[in-house]
Amino acid sequence: MNDFHPKLRTPICEKLGIDYPIIQTGMGWVSTAKLTAATSATGAIGFLATATQTFAEMKSSVREIQELTGNPFGINVRTDSPDIEERLDWAIKAGINVVSFAQAPKPEMVKKLSDSGIITIPTIAARRHAEKVAEWGVDAVIAQGQEGGGHTGEVPTSVLIPQVTKAIDIPVFAAGGITDGRGLVASLAWGAQGIAMGTRFLLSSESDVPAEIKQAYFNAMVTDTIRTKSIDGVPQRVINSEMVQNLEKNRYLKFPRALTNALKFRQATSTPLSDLFKEALAMRKNQNMTWAQIALAANAPMLTKATMVDGNHKIGIMPTGVGLGVIESAPTVSEIVEEIMKEASQCLSDLSSTEEIE
Ligand SMILES: Cc1cc2nc3c(=O)[nH]c(=O)nc-3n(C[C@H](O)[C@H](O)[C@H](O)COP(=O)(O)O)c2cc1C
Repeated sequence: MNDFHPKLRTPICEKLGIDYPIIQTGMGWVSTAKLTAATSATGAIGFLATATQTFAEMKSSVREIQELTGNPFGINVRTDSPDIEERLDWAIKAGINVVSFAQAPKPEMVKKLSDSGIITIPTIAARRHAEKVAEWGVDAVIAQGQEGGGHTGEVPTSVLIPQVTKAIDIPVFAAGGITDGRGLVASLAWGAQGIAMGTRFLLSSESDVPAEIKQAYFNAMVTDTIRTKSIDGVPQRVINSEMVQNLEKNRYLKFPRALTNALKFRQATSTPLSDLFKEALAMRKNQNMTWAQIALAANAPMLTKATMVDGNHKIGIMPTGVGLGVIESAPTVSEIVEEIMKEASQCLSDLSSTEEIE
């Protein structure tokens, strides 16, 4: 790729061993070995989604990435996986460079990884969470505004990023509705050192999301997403499909079917039955959900898989950021990264130009 504006080579690039301050985030069922390796090969950094993988799948995906690129990459882990300790021990031995977390990490996890020289980058959605994980010794954070895809907080990106960069001294990646080079420059202006994007990379040619589902993303407008608790009890931004509208209206899947699917997911992820029940009981206690809702929540990853992997359009659980409304095509990840760097460089030159604006 070309030479870009020097201001775009922020200090975190050095620390991560990357050329461009751009993260392709971990996306369950979507950021596969293929997408992750392709992103890292561009000089940005990709994260493999392991929260929806068995341990065996995670190992084979990591090996696949290592065969495809020698560049640094990360893994996104589910901190409440029953085998999380084994997974982290394996990641340390396998020479993983960076770990991000699908839920809040625990201080012991951060310590264990940091002591082994692994960079930790949790995602946070509020200033107080950023302060807490910074105290635990994480290396950087992804601060995700509510415009972001998947599970997301409530503070808008334009408010969260300046708030977080003021509050903590470690590098911040801005996330939530960012899709282009101007978004990168805005993020730098807010004090971030780079950007993290999910939806932009989901809509790339290396993403294996079925064409029909990608088309549903292209058809959706900025206003066609919803931040809903109806899928698994935790606010999640998705396309406001018919299925989601039904869930919102409290027309839940019939309990026996929801339970069957929940049990299938348990098998696919080798979650012990006792853990599933523990999770269900905790959900019931903490979130005041009905049993049918709980079965659905435990089942939510399978519904997402049916849509995002199997292309079942009718199921229609499509996590997304609001940025889908301005994305019109699915170029290669290399084109995406190059275009962002070019646009950001141009934007910085224009802003620092002394020529009068007409
Ligand atoms: C399809 C999809 C799946 C996601 N799955 C995960 C996940 O498994 N772990 C995680 O930490 N974040 C997950 N997220 C959130 C993204 O990693 C990222 O933080 C978010 O997409 C950023 O917002 P943007 O989509 O507006 O770029 C997911 C997002 C999407 C769109």
